[in-house]
Amino acid sequence: MTTGSILFLPGDGIGPEVMGVVRQVIDHLGKKGPSFELHEDLVGGASLDAHGEPITEAVLAKAKSVDAIMFGAVGAQKYDSNPFHLKPEQAILKLRKQLELFANLRPAIVFNALVEASTLKPELVRGLDILILRELTGGVYFGEPRGIEDLGNGQKRGVDTQVYTTAEIERIARVGFELARKRQNNVTSVEKANVMHTGVLWRQVVTELHAREYADVQLSHMYADNCAMQLIRRPKQFDVIVTDNLFGDILSDAAAMATGSLGMLPSAALGAPDAATGKRKAMYEPIHGSAPDIAGKNMANPIAALMSFAMLLKYSFDRDAEAKLLEDSIADVLNEGYRTADIAQDGMTTLGTTEMGAKILTALTKRST
Ligand code: IPM
Ligand code: MG
Repeated sequence: MTTGSILFLPGDGIGPEVMGVVRQVIDHLGKKGPSFELHEDLVGGASLDAHGEPITEAVLAKAKSVDAIMFGAVGAQKYDSNPFHLKPEQAILKLRKQLELFANLRPAIVFNALVEASTLKPELVRGLDILILRELTGGVYFGEPRGIEDLGNGQKRGVDTQVYTTAEIERIARVGFELARKRQNNVTSVEKANVMHTGVLWRQVVTELHAREYADVQLSHMYADNCAMQLIRRPKQFDVIVTDNLFGDILSDAAAMATGSLGMLPSAALGAPDAATGKRKAMYEPIHGSAPDIAGKNMANPIAALMSFAMLLKYSFDRDAEAKLLEDSIADVLNEGYRTADIAQDGMTTLGTTEMGAKILTALTKRST
């Protein structure tokens, strides 16, 4: 009996490089811990090249059938002028939408060893542990109508629609309150209620749900522009930030920099628990993207991918102990002074992707014996 099934979708750019390190960790764990039935397939540019589409129906079907997905990254410059439905990014948007992965957890945690690597002052980020909870299947990413219309007079008109229903807001807010209860019990709900109707509704629904079911959790509301500023000014004021799809996209990149690098930020995208089994559909993914500039150079930081795998262990398989083991092993290697190029520091040793992976495996071995 295996612990469960995982579909690997390494994708483009540095995706395959960092996923390679994750597979080594899985092989290592399999020696006595959880062992997984592994599948692998193409997405993004890799799928466009092979099949002429960013993700095939077969891969989508496989994604729906496994317990969890490990996603690398998609995107490369050569597809920049492709029409929308033939952009590599469609792979990830289709997976999110078709699997209804509405809750996107993006934790920004600062390792002690990396306090100096942040572009923010050390005292602002030491001990930082915040969670951005991004709504992932609604809002302007999917709202209709959308498109570019030819006005016939040499002018065009581009349209995207920001739209949220009560139910969509309520289910993401619920996840936020539940997560907060296991953390510092503090939720900041972020929108633009001063300008947007969706923001007004968002605030109203969150406020009502809070009063009805989560009055024990501290709740505050913040406009998205202010939140961007506060994340840079005093990030430790936050515990859980709950926000919509687009604001969550932007704010999570900002929060990532507090941790030293985009190469450090993992994510989990979760669906609703299945009525029969209680299991959630889930996809785990480093948020750094395909980073074409360093792809194929053995320079990528595998830590975000490994931390995403730690989230997979925790959220899809309740293997908290192994997740902690992996996180602690990463911290060990950072404490020993090893870095990748994106978090390089004076006096520390800069390693390539595979060398960093090897160091983390060694630390893992030490901790598990
Ligand atoms: C992210 C990315 C994606 C997004 C892109 C690749 C479609 O930026 O996951 O943050 O905009 O959601
Ligand atoms: Mg993004």
